[in-house]
Amino acid sequence: MVLLLVVGQVATEADSGSQEQTTVTVPPTSPNPTEPLPFDETTVERFFTAVKSQLQCGYPMFGVPSLVPLKLSYTLKTSFDLLSLKKISVVASNITVHGLNEFSWDPSRTRFTRTAATVPLSFPNVTAFAHTSLNGANGTSFVELRNVSVRLDAQYEEKDDLLYVTELSGSILLEDAKVKIASLFPKSAKLSKIWNKAIGKSLPILVELFNGGKLKIEYLSRLLSGAKFYAMNTINNALNTHNLNFDRLVESMLKFADGTSDSLQCEESAAMNGNELVGWQRA
Ligand SMILES: *[C@@H]1O[C@H](CO)[C@@H](O)[C@H](O)[C@H]1NC(C)=O
Ligand SMILES: *[C@@H]1O[C@H](CO)[C@@H](O)[C@H](O)[C@H]1NC(C)=O
Ligand SMILES: *[C@@H]1O[C@H](CO)[C@@H](O)[C@H](O)[C@H]1NC(C)=O
Ligand SMILES: *[C@@H]1O[C@H](CO)[C@@H](O)[C@H](O)[C@H]1NC(C)=O
Repeated sequence: MVLLLVVGQVATEADSGSQEQTTVTVPPTSPNPTEPLPFDETTVERFFTAVKSQLQCGYPMFGVPSLVPLKLSYTLKTSFDLLSLKKISVVASNITVHGLNEFSWDPSRTRFTRTAATVPLSFPNVTAFAHTSLNGANGTSFVELRNVSVRLDAQYEEKDDLLYVTELSGSILLEDAKVKIASLFPKSAKLSKIWNKAIGKSLPILVELFNGGKLKIEYLSRLLSGAKFYAMNTINNALNTHNLNFDRLVESMLKFADGTSDSLQCEESAAMNGNELVGWQRA
């Protein structure tokens, strides 16, 4: 959703520029679908500011919950051997993710056309808290991810005067991470501290492996591919409901950035309460 909004926004800027020129030339040239469109940075910034505040409410009509913070109803159950010494079973529930509404956008690496877009975003601090139970001992653990760079790639096409997203992909780069696991050794706060420190020390290596694509987390890939189809479904549903083609999307994104009363705006009363990503889990 965010990505498409961006695309539309940016494209409007491009269109308004070319329209001024077509007042001089007689034959209106149809736009080249693969030609990069120019965009106005301040308008895109204004658009992202609107997106950040909209994230408080999500888009309840399309089943998108509030992302500030994002609450997952998912319960993660797994177990691992701690240096073959101790079998640890982990249950993580009530997961909340903070920081998804704090990001910056890199104009210099942004590119979009009438059929594809690439948008790089950077999140300085994404932190997930979870109620965790380790071998039955309860506590609150967290994972703090610093400077996460996300590159979103989208492909889309028009069919029967409607816009459809046909592919979403991207990459994630992580600069640094910090983890604290609660109740590692419930009977010894000292041991827990030592182990949390040791885990912290090994994180740079894990970050390297993750960035190099060598650390494949099966659970994460499944979650991400589920999220991809959930996102595509949600976006296409929204485009369809609002009867948007590329140009009408652009128009509606401009309204959104300007906060006009007929735009899709955040209404305090519309904020979802039971905000869980039900559709995501189903996917
Ligand atoms: C999880 O959250 C629900 C609703 O927010 C709450 O009722 C429940 O007590 C929480 N469970 C734990 C273990 O924190
Ligand atoms: C990151 O965000 C979390 C949750 O909002 C906060 O508790 C933590 O202090 C932040 N860390 C930094 C380095 O800003
Ligand atoms: C830990 O929390 C779970 C619910 O999340 C509860 O069933 C269990 O009894 C708790 N264990 C302890 C030792 O408090
Ligand atoms: C994240 O990036 C910013 C700016 O690029 C930098 O100032 C900051 O130190 C970085 N934070 C971490 C934890 O590496």
